[in-house]
Amino acid sequence: MINCKSQAELDKMKRSGQIVRQVLDAVKKLVAPGVSTMDLELAAEEKIKELGAKPAFKGYHEYPCVLCTSVNNEIIHGIPSEKRVLKEGDIVSIDCGVVLDGYYGDSAITVPVGKSLAPELKKLLDVTETSLKKAIAEVRLGKTVGDVGAAVQEYVEANGFSVVREFVGHGIGTRLHEDPQVPNFGTRGHGTRLREGMVIAIEPMVNIGKPGARVLDDKWTAVTEDGSYSAHFEHTVAVTRNGPLVLTE
Ligand code: MF3
Ligand code: CO
Repeated sequence: MINCKSQAELDKMKRSGQIVRQVLDAVKKLVAPGVSTMDLELAAEEKIKELGAKPAFKGYHEYPCVLCTSVNNEIIHGIPSEKRVLKEGDIVSIDCGVVLDGYYGDSAITVPVGKSLAPELKKLLDVTETSLKKAIAEVRLGKTVGDVGAAVQEYVEANGFSVVREFVGHGIGTRLHEDPQVPNFGTRGHGTRLREGMVIAIEPMVNIGKPGARVLDDKWTAVTEDGSYSAHFEHTVAVTRNGPLVLTE
């Protein structure tokens, strides 16, 4: 069942979305060689508290942290650890969700560590972020979830990379995960038709190599099967009669 949100509900979701944005902006500034992913986690937890919200991920299916921090060949759901120390040339996906006044916001970025980013990784980050922008541009009345996925897939594959199939975006509102599922692949005109007040988290996960993913023994961290690097960007986006409204910017 898909819950369409009223204007009052979208206003609330904008507030939780803005908190997610502030947290990610703050954490992004800390990313540097020698910093551990647990350092990012602790800063995020503090910032969420300071802004008066609650973390959405911690405790969700027993996930232990407020952030997911996924480094290099890790696709998503990397668990922050003081043992995972970032180094020059790494890339790290930082995913954060919060709940405020009963409504959720969810967003992710992937950022380089240090100043010497390999050209192929720069391209990976650019292509993944642009694929999200292209997907957001499809969030219009009359378009479908298939159009959103197709926009990601077409752009990513035209650039020689691949989209992960095992994990998808999702509806979001009074729960972190609502209907519909939002795959990063699809067929134009297929799938659920977008209606006014629908809110979806669009989250392309893009691998340099093959699309395959597997989950590590920690039961969370998803990595590429072929060991290739992977990037992830996410925004929470509402369908309005005036087009897409990005709630996490
Ligand atoms: N952005 C991810 C998602 O929407 C992060 C969830 S982590 C979890 O699925 F721990 F909460 F599952
Ligand atoms: Co999400």
